[in-house]
Amino acid sequence: MRFPDDVPTLTDGVVTLRAHQPADLPRIVQQATDPESVRWTTVPHPYAESDAVDWTTNVLPKGWATDSTYGFAIEHEGLFAGSVDLRMRGELEAEVGFALHPGARGSGVMRRALDLLLDWGFGRGVEVVYWRAFVGNWASRRIAWRLGFHFGPTIPRLLPQRGEQRDAWTAWLGADDPREPVEPWLVPPVLEADDVRLRPWREADGPRLVEAANDAVLREWIPDTPLPRSLEAVPAYLTRVHVGAATNGRLAWCVADAGTDVALGNVALFEFEDEPDDLTAQVGYWSHPAGRGRGVMTAALRLATDWAFGRSAEGGLGARRLYLLTSVRNDGSRRLAERAGFEHVGTERGSAPLAAGGYEDNALYDRLREEETAPTT
Ligand SMILES: CC(C)(COP(=O)(O)OP(=O)(O)OC[C@H]1O[C@@H](n2cnc3c(N)ncnc32)[C@H](O)[C@@H]1OP(=O)(O)O)[C@@H](O)C(=O)NCCC(=O)NCCS
Repeated sequence: MRFPDDVPTLTDGVVTLRAHQPADLPRIVQQATDPESVRWTTVPHPYAESDAVDWTTNVLPKGWATDSTYGFAIEHEGLFAGSVDLRMRGELEAEVGFALHPGARGSGVMRRALDLLLDWGFGRGVEVVYWRAFVGNWASRRIAWRLGFHFGPTIPRLLPQRGEQRDAWTAWLGADDPREPVEPWLVPPVLEADDVRLRPWREADGPRLVEAANDAVLREWIPDTPLPRSLEAVPAYLTRVHVGAATNGRLAWCVADAGTDVALGNVALFEFEDEPDDLTAQVGYWSHPAGRGRGVMTAALRLATDWAFGRSAEGGLGARRLYLLTSVRNDGSRRLAERAGFEHVGTERGSAPLAAGGYEDNALYDRLREEETAPTT
C-alpha cells in the first residue's frame, strides 16, 4: 500500500486514525522525548527532529509499501495525539504497538484508537493480535486488559531496549473475542477496624517484607514463602503481588497499624473457584514479628473474611465458602482461625512442607457465608 494515499482514515467520532503528516513533527518529537515514552518504548534516545523526519518519510512509508507495519497517527481534538501500529507477523497474526503524546494521556484516547485499529486489522483477516510490554508498564497492561486481551506468561529477557534485553508481559486477542475484560482486575480495598488497616502493599513496605522473610518463626511455618529475602528482590515481589490481583489470582493486603500505617503482616485470598457470587477461596496470612501477640491478625482476618462474604460497606467478593490450612502443630495460628470464626473441619495429611524437608499434616478450617459473623471479643 502507498503512504499516505492508501492509508485509510478511521474514526469513531472522537478519535481519528490517519496517515502521519509533516505538521505532526513537533508533537512527534515532544512525545518521543517524554520520559514515559523513553522508559517504556524502544524509541531512539536521544531523539532529534531528524529522527522524526526519517521515521515519517522512510520508516512509516516502507512499512505500508511492504505490508509489514501499518502505522497510523492518532488525532484527537484537532491535534496529533500519538501513534498506533499493527506489525504483521505473517499473513494472519500481528503485534500491536502504541504510544500517546503526554498531553493526550489519561482521557481514554488510546483505548478508542486501539479499538479502531483492531477493527480494521481483524476486518482485513488478521486472526490474532498479540501485545508485549516491559514488565511494570501498568498503564499499557490496563488498556490491553480493558480491550479483552488474554494474558500469557511473563517471559524473561524477551524484548530488546537500547542494547539490553528486558522481561516482558504477554497477551493476545482473537478476532472474535469480546472487547471486554476476560477476568476481574482485583483491587484490595482499604478496610479498617480495631486499630488495624488493610491496604495495598507498596514499595515503602520493602524493609518490613524483608524482615518478615528472614524471620525464623515465619520460615518455620511457611518454609516455601516467596517473600523477598533482600531489598533488591522487593520490586519483583511486589510486581508479582500486583499481577496476582490483576489476573484474578490472588488478592493480598498489607495489614498495617491504623495509627502509623506501618506494616504488621499480610492477609490474602487465593485459589478462587466456582462462579462469582458463589465462589470458594482460600485464606492465608503471616505476621511480622512486631505484629504478633496483639490480636492484629485476628482483626485482619475478620476484616478480610467479612469483605469476602460481602458484609462490608466497601462491597465484597461474593464468596460462599472460605477455608484455610495451617500446620496441626501451629497452635497460635489455629487459635487465631477459631477466634475469627473458622471451624476445624478436618485434616489434610502430608500437605504442609517442613523447613527441614518432608511434610506434615495441615488442619483444615472453613467458614460459610450463611454462618453468623464472628464475635468481636
Ligand atoms: C501506555 C499509554 C498509551 C496509556 O495511555 P494513557 O492515556 O496514559 O492511559 P490512562 O492514563 O488512561 O491509563 C490507562 C489505565 O491504566 C491505569 N494505570 C496507569 N498507571 C497505572 C499503575 N501504575 N498501576 C495500575 N494502573 C495504572 C489507569 O488508571 C487507567 O485505568 P482505567 O482504564 O481504569 O482508568 C501511555 O501512558 C503512553 O503513551 N505511555 C508511553 C508509551 C507506552 O508505554 N506504550 C505502550 C508500550 S507497550
